[in-house]
Amino acid sequence: MQTAVYPGSFDPVTNGHLDIIERASRLYDRLVIGVLDNSSKSPVFSAAVRAEMLRDVTSHLENVEVDTFSGLLVDFASAKKAEVIVKGLRTVADFEYEFQMALLNKALNSHYETVFMMTDTKYSYISSSMVKEVAKYHGDLTGFVPQILIDRIREKF
Ligand code: PNS
Repeated sequence: MQTAVYPGSFDPVTNGHLDIIERASRLYDRLVIGVLDNSSKSPVFSAAVRAEMLRDVTSHLENVEVDTFSGLLVDFASAKKAEVIVKGLRTVADFEYEFQMALLNKALNSHYETVFMMTDTKYSYISSSMVKEVAKYHGDLTGFVPQILIDRIREKF
């Protein structure tokens, strides 16, 4: 059984994230979404709420689980018995940072392979930061985040 982890801040989860989750869940036997619990990043939503939102939007995917983590990603992957780290790439602008992280994770523990998946072009401009900006100014979030989360996100702003 091959397990992959898909880590991120998910503050909040977007349709771009969900697209990667759905596609990665078809490639691996088990996909564990790792929600980074790091208060120094000053997230809008607590790690518990971000994880809850992810569980709500992935409830149709039987081989997907969600957990929070703090500390190193390779330690989380090890605890989950994963061999693969899945990351999404939206544009070449993401590449440099993601490439550096993949090399760092490999240096920390050579056991893990980072697999990059290209975000569907229709989501390539969506980010959690952009979603928060739109929500802050009461813009329409339709199409940016899963429909069932829109009220929860709006309430926060
Ligand atoms: O959604 P994000 O904020 O781009 O996700 C970043 C994340 C969570 C993947 C990254 O910050 C991470 O892996 N943090 C855990 C700490 C760690 O392992 N650091 C070393 C590799 S950068």
